[in-house]
Amino acid sequence: MKVSVKTPATIANIGPGFDSFGLALPLYNIVTVEETVLPGTGIEINIINEKNNENDLIDIPTDKNNIVYKAIELLYNFIGQNPNELKITIKTQIPISRGLGSSASVIVGGLIAANELLGHPADEKVLLSIATEIEGHPDNITPAFVGGMTMASWEEDGSVIYRKLPWNDDWKLMICMPDYELNTEISRSVLPKEIPLSDAVYNLKRSAMFVEALYTKDEELLKLSLKDKIHQPYRQKLVPGMTEIMDNLKHTNGVIGTVLCGAGPSILIIYNGIGVSEIKEIVSNSWNYFNVKTNFLNLPIEKEGAVKIL
Ligand code: HSE
Repeated sequence: MKVSVKTPATIANIGPGFDSFGLALPLYNIVTVEETVLPGTGIEINIINEKNNENDLIDIPTDKNNIVYKAIELLYNFIGQNPNELKITIKTQIPISRGLGSSASVIVGGLIAANELLGHPADEKVLLSIATEIEGHPDNITPAFVGGMTMASWEEDGSVIYRKLPWNDDWKLMICMPDYELNTEISRSVLPKEIPLSDAVYNLKRSAMFVEALYTKDEELLKLSLKDKIHQPYRQKLVPGMTEIMDNLKHTNGVIGTVLCGAGPSILIIYNGIGVSEIKEIVSNSWNYFNVKTNFLNLPIEKEGAVKIL
């Protein structure tokens, strides 16, 4: 028996909601988990890049250090077992290390597929908790799992509390993806252990504004909310051109806000549908200066999360 699950890409943080807000995008990875028929076959992990960019896959382990395997192992342990014979096939379309939740997507896909194979021993709560333990942050895991725009909190007991938030489809997303990777661990290593109280309050106020703006479709409030003092200022040295892009887009027609996608290096521009060519020109020119090529993706929010396709 085999099960395949298709899981969307995600963008975490969305400015003020560090480690909490996230949204899903219609770009997908597919994980297939299969019980091998012949005993003694062990664990086989295959990774196929559907965009034909094999360089993207060089650093991904295909042994028991693979994060999909580790997540599935935790699920087996949850029911008092160990995975002995499994074939895991990971088909990736989501670019790796670009701040688009590729790891979260495969972890969630692998867990849901394995849970199906095992006859559903774990409910959503358990799966979210295992996935977050492996990935480390609930803000990519949650929208990958349930789709849409979400707020999530990883609680002290390991559980994840989340809610789906509304999204006004008049607010468009432009993802600006540079031609280089940025490892999340590196991007987290530049963050301070402690932050000034005034910066914490700054983000607290903006997170509250963000949620209210979503519920009331208040574009002005959303514009005020899409700012951050907890992670982006520290990460700007890892994303050359980011500060220039954010500054230059502040007064561009149509732009509601510009934020870093998760841990970067991609940048998300939320805009109201106008000014596309001017926005693209500003981003391309700023990154050209740093010899960085830009790939633009205009995508709606994916309302659905992970789905079983086989
Ligand atoms: N919230 C996390 C971060 C997302 O910004 O480090 C990482 O994928």
